[in-house]
Amino acid sequence: MKRSIVITGGAGFIGSHVVRLFVNKYPEYNIINLDKLTYAGNLANLKDVEQCPNYKFVRMDICDFEAFYQLMQQEKVDGIIHLAAESHVDRSIKDPFTFARTNVMGTLSLLQAAKLYWESLPEKYEGKRFYHISTDEVYGALEMDRPEGVEPPFTTTASSSEHHLAYGSEFFLETTKYNPHSPYSASKASSDHFVRAYHDTYGMPTVVTNCSNNYGPYQFPEKLIPLFINNIRHRRPLPVYGKGENVRDWLYVEDHARAIDLIFHKGTVAETYNIGGFNEWKNIDIIHTVIRTVDRLLGRAEGEDLDLITYVTDRLGHDARYAIDSSKLQRELGWEPSLQFEEGIERTVRWYLDNEEWLANITSGEYEKYYESMYGGR
Ligand code: NAD
Ligand code: TYD
Repeated sequence: MKRSIVITGGAGFIGSHVVRLFVNKYPEYNIINLDKLTYAGNLANLKDVEQCPNYKFVRMDICDFEAFYQLMQQEKVDGIIHLAAESHVDRSIKDPFTFARTNVMGTLSLLQAAKLYWESLPEKYEGKRFYHISTDEVYGALEMDRPEGVEPPFTTTASSSEHHLAYGSEFFLETTKYNPHSPYSASKASSDHFVRAYHDTYGMPTVVTNCSNNYGPYQFPEKLIPLFINNIRHRRPLPVYGKGENVRDWLYVEDHARAIDLIFHKGTVAETYNIGGFNEWKNIDIIHTVIRTVDRLLGRAEGEDLDLITYVTDRLGHDARYAIDSSKLQRELGWEPSLQFEEGIERTVRWYLDNEEWLANITSGEYEKYYESMYGGR
């Protein structure tokens, strides 16, 4: 079936993987990558698909209601996969207003434009879908209450044997009450509520997913894993917040993109699905793994760069532990993570080491100059 789908935030980290997957897998679809190109948006992420006939890039702010309404009419949009957001917790602590504007008002603007356009059609909401990508951070933070030596009641598919134990007895379920702590997660929680409200009030066919931390190629080097790979390479200090004992649940980005494809096509309207690989790690353990991998791949003595670890003041309101229970998605739609964590880390480190130019362009200011010349600044 021919479809016309807008993917917002397609020039960002996860969005670029979703765009690539859809453009390659669905040549009959019209795929529109809608992105404002903030500091986090980078069209170099999509060089390999930019010439494809079923792909189009539109530079637009999701808060621009009029422009988006017109685009929906012009392109006869029947599906929206919404990833555009301000996504970095540290930035949200410094500048919460930008997060409220983009994540809350931007999402509301898309919803309202979609509502007006779809309700104007004879078939109305039939065959339409508004898919909102959210985060596990909306659920708040979990306790680290697993007594030493006690095994959790599941076998993990994605993580290594060494690290497969959960750090606590509780997991985020789709029914877990929202309890966001950071301005980032508060803004995402608010946008999730608006999306569900558009289903409950107007009957819009929405779906929401909440995913754990992603890692992989094309992630902006302000986030833990790419930042540390880059710093190790250049032998710069590795700023570990607090004691490095916070726990995150990591998923390879291509596994997230596959889940998005599956849920967009087969997920039940108005449902929520948690996405995660049962793959909890303490930050400090990840950091050790990343250091060992970078050292080995660069031909340095393994562990040579451990002394770059620098403990710094903790992040304000730093959530202790995130852990997603994704068994609903596994059970109902048959999704599974495909990679062991060590394999994913190895692939990721290799990618950053092989794509030094991509990283250098972002970190050197070349990237800013390029966009200024291409698009007249930001
Ligand atoms: P990212 O910061 O790498 O990319 C965000 C993209 O959105 C960029 O291309 C940026 O230019 C664009 N954008 C920002 N503001 C915009 C605006 N006003 N109008 C149009 N485009 C705008 O983010 P990411 O890590 O790829 O995350 C994508 C989505 O997935 C976000 O909604 C995030 O909350 C969610 N998420 C991320 C993770 C993670 O670990 N990265 C985990 C779960 C959920
Ligand atoms: P991050 O990649 O920012 O993702 P999130 O905050 O959304 O989980 O951070 C992952 C973890 O790593 C988080 O516990 C904060 C920690 N962290 C550091 O210790 N040092 C750093 O420089 C960064 C960016 C993060």
